[in-house]
Amino acid sequence: MRQKWIITPKETLNDQERQAYWENTHIVENYETVWSMTEDPVLRHKLIAEIRSHPKHEKILIPGCGSRTVLEQDFVESLTDISAIYCTDYPGVIKVAAGRYQHDQVHYEARDSQDLGFENEFDVVIIVNSVLSESDAENRAILRSCYRSLKTGGVLIGLFPTIFAAVDITYLEQSRERLKCVDLERSALYETQQNLWQIFYTPLRLRQIIKEAGYQLNKTEIFFCDSPYFLEHSSQYYGIEDPDNVVYELLVVAQKL
Ligand SMILES: C[S@@+](CC[C@H](N)C(=O)[O-])C[C@H]1O[C@@H](n2cnc3c(N)ncnc32)[C@H](O)[C@@H]1O
Repeated sequence: MRQKWIITPKETLNDQERQAYWENTHIVENYETVWSMTEDPVLRHKLIAEIRSHPKHEKILIPGCGSRTVLEQDFVESLTDISAIYCTDYPGVIKVAAGRYQHDQVHYEARDSQDLGFENEFDVVIIVNSVLSESDAENRAILRSCYRSLKTGGVLIGLFPTIFAAVDITYLEQSRERLKCVDLERSALYETQQNLWQIFYTPLRLRQIIKEAGYQLNKTEIFFCDSPYFLEHSSQYYGIEDPDNVVYELLVVAQKL
């Protein structure tokens, strides 16, 4: 299929460098240098409600699951009718996650998100900030691989950061300092703590790559990160002190028809 609006990065990591970066982030830095969503109970509640609203949600895949494990723990406790949760990531990350949490229904597997190797197996795929590489090509490959993993009728439920949140927040502050970290041409944000550019798609770009991967886009809504956890995390991680000037992400539900 023809790919529209491809983003050309200034520079990209190769696959080995990217794996080494993420493994180091989880193993050495304990993921403390990354904006982290899954610790928020409000977000988890929202994801669980989305999953429950789909009649078939027995088998769940979490690609790029990271090492915090709180999401899969909450799914196991809250979704009593599920049969299995597969959590995938790079080998070093999976080792940390599997060492932190074990449960009969939770399977940790080292797999490249670009080529997960599952075909028509899952009812639900959950993405939490795991499609944000500086390589647009990689992000698109991940979305296609998730699509192949889904059964017909299955849904992808995902949280995606958007560059417009950074711009929105900056123009509501006195200083325009954050704009140095914004590259609107590439829909990219430079995360200073990560020392890395990442693509934070605009709604139109995200809509397009989801469609191109084969999905029907059922909904896109704004998820405001305004819970007590996020206000504290925004202050500590981004130095945002105004409790009304909150980070937001795009919550997407897309289906394999
Ligand atoms: C921003 S973190 C999010 C982690 C987790 N979803 C969370 O919210 O805590 C992105 C995750 O995607 C994983 N990842 C990125 N590209 C990947 C790839 N090609 N294959 C496997 N994992 C990948 C990283 O290792 C990292 O754990």
